[in-house]
Amino acid sequence: MYLNNNCIFVHSKLASKMTKPITGFSRLTKKQKIDWLAETYLKDSPEDVAVLRQYWNEDSRLQQLHDEFTENTLSNFYLPFGLAPNFLINGDLLAIPMAIEESSVIAAASKAAKFWGSRGGFKAEVIDTKKIGQVHFNFFGNKQKLESFFETVKPKLIEAVKPITRNMEKRGGGVLAIKLKDKTAEIANYYQLHCEFETKDSMGANFINSCLEKFAEVFQDEAQNYADFSSEEKDIEIIMSILSNYVPECLVRAEVSCPVEELNENKDINGEDFAKKFIQAVNIAEVEPYRAVTHNKGIMNGIDAVVLATGNDFRAVESGIHAYAARNGKYSSLTHASLENGIFKFWIEIPLALGTVGGLTSLHPLVKLALDILQKPSAKELMKVVAVAGLAQNFAAINSLTTTGIQQGHMKMHLMNILNQHNATEAEKKSLTQHFTTHTVTHSSAVEELKKLRNS
Ligand code: MEV
Repeated sequence: MYLNNNCIFVHSKLASKMTKPITGFSRLTKKQKIDWLAETYLKDSPEDVAVLRQYWNEDSRLQQLHDEFTENTLSNFYLPFGLAPNFLINGDLLAIPMAIEESSVIAAASKAAKFWGSRGGFKAEVIDTKKIGQVHFNFFGNKQKLESFFETVKPKLIEAVKPITRNMEKRGGGVLAIKLKDKTAEIANYYQLHCEFETKDSMGANFINSCLEKFAEVFQDEAQNYADFSSEEKDIEIIMSILSNYVPECLVRAEVSCPVEELNENKDINGEDFAKKFIQAVNIAEVEPYRAVTHNKGIMNGIDAVVLATGNDFRAVESGIHAYAARNGKYSSLTHASLENGIFKFWIEIPLALGTVGGLTSLHPLVKLALDILQKPSAKELMKVVAVAGLAQNFAAINSLTTTGIQQGHMKMHLMNILNQHNATEAEKKSLTQHFTTHTVTHSSAVEELKKLRNS
């Protein structure tokens, strides 16, 4: 594909196939969908079709469950489901399930868990659990009159969502506040109902969106009957009603600390020098966005893996966390470190909207299992675990980066992937793992050694 004079040209072979769009694809059976795909894009290759079928679950009920999670399912896409044990969090010893394809991540988490386990463990606390949703609308008229209308209609909005909020209220949640926000300085006639919610153990997306749509409906209807409004003012135009994935008041903090001399694991560097270098690495991520993005990516390695394993919405978590990282107008580090009075401290503060009930949590067998492994946590407890996983990951990354570099450990883990790619036998893997304990792994050196072994 290439760009020319603002037009996109698609490779001609592909373009000829794409000149005939398919209608009614979603109504085809799974087999028909695969046949169409094979014929249209895969040159009718039986091998490609076999790959799709190979990943079907032989338990047809389990397969159907996965088919129905989303639309147009053809097969399953596996991710490794692993475990990082020995996490001491607020005095409890937990094993953290992680779903991730990247080598080294689980090993790094486990290593950090072991390190901090013998130095008091991780301390984590939930700061707040407030979630946000907004009704975006246009109002054409006098702002004071809109404010008076809003105050009059607010109790009716709360009343109108009672059928939706009743159960949530029994669990201690519900609508916390509805505020009118004037956004006309940014877009002419644009206002919001800015709403705050408590959703307890559910992530709350459906709950919040249902409340918002009801607010919008009642707000618009009531405006029609509000005597003080002119006919133009009565016609409030609802643009959209949707939760926000930016949740800066649904916040969790996790921390580790120890006397600086206890940072002495690496024989080549003393605790104080290690701490100073470590803190500078964090400071760099605080001031330098190019580094901050990679620094935070490493944190997300831990966070996403737990969020995925526990069936939560990692896209929501990602967008909310990155927005938080840029809240002061410049993208910055999510973690911070200090050395004061001989105590090294390292902490993270992130917004996290998570659920441990609803959604996939009782549907997906592995998600259920992940939550069982975590001892059926509340949403607040899960927030703490996820923050700790992010902090641990960042500790491991900065530890490696500021001492040995990451390639040494990373390439050892990567060795297995390279050997698997070349269909190495168990005996070959064993022999080459041994060889590379004293040699540097690169892709070419691994392939060369495998060739040598096969020729010998
Ligand atoms: C790799 O997935 C993550 C790291 O790049 C994170 C970092 O640089 O801090 C190692």
